[in-house]
Amino acid sequence: MKFLVIGDIVGNSGMNKLKKEYNKLVQENSIDFVIINGENSAAGKGLRLKEYDEIMNLGTDVITMGNHIYYRKEMAEEYIKLPRLLVPANVTNLKANGSVIVEKNGFKIGVLSLLGKVGLGEVAQENVLSPFETARKEVDKLKTDGAKYIFLDFHAEATAEKIAMGYFLENDVTCVFGTHTHVQTADEEIINCKMAYITDVGMTGPKNSVIGLKKETALKRFSTGAYAKYECSDNDATLNGIIVTTDDLKGIAIKIERISIK
Ligand SMILES: [Fe+2]
Ligand SMILES: [Fe+2]
Repeated sequence: MKFLVIGDIVGNSGMNKLKKEYNKLVQENSIDFVIINGENSAAGKGLRLKEYDEIMNLGTDVITMGNHIYYRKEMAEEYIKLPRLLVPANVTNLKANGSVIVEKNGFKIGVLSLLGKVGLGEVAQENVLSPFETARKEVDKLKTDGAKYIFLDFHAEATAEKIAMGYFLENDVTCVFGTHTHVQTADEEIINCKMAYITDVGMTGPKNSVIGLKKETALKRFSTGAYAKYECSDNDATLNGIIVTTDDLKGIAIKIERISIK
């Protein structure tokens, strides 16, 4: 099978780029299963039902979230009603799905979302369990439920925490991919001859911005230390992600490729 993972969709420009490239990307690469991180799709902050519908209507199989789960207050009651939308499984104060199994091509595909604890500030301290302990429990559950392949979106800031998670699960899952930093890393590899890994798939968001934030706003914040209201850039976007190929006889990942469409 071929799996397409697309990194954090940021604002309108990210949504437009996704809609523009989706069909071509899926058709030209014979993609069977699509996972999209949508945590910044609503003007850079969170996701609303509008973006959920638009992303799912493209044919997406699963949408994952991250630390932006609290921005859209109206969504707190919605998450649990949307089984294909994953909120990190180690977050304890929201009613939501942290993992899901979707049947595709006759196989059960498990997808899991987890939030890191390092460098994410307050949001990752209270109400967030150890991602490692939660990973073990959730992966065991997905396997018991018959998942042939398991993909983990590890939404985390620290490269070391993400790499550690890769090795932690190297014998147990098909792919560990990172999201959140919005910058694609060049360290994709097949670990232990069977698991695809990348520290961050990168964002689908505006060029000439600071990870999605308007350049001028970011420069004011960083250079003066002064408060500057968040403003999502509306520059044209780059789409970033990965394609993972599996060997369906062996049930392992055999190839991981980065994609970046300017
Ligand atoms: Fe993000
Ligand atoms: Fe994030």
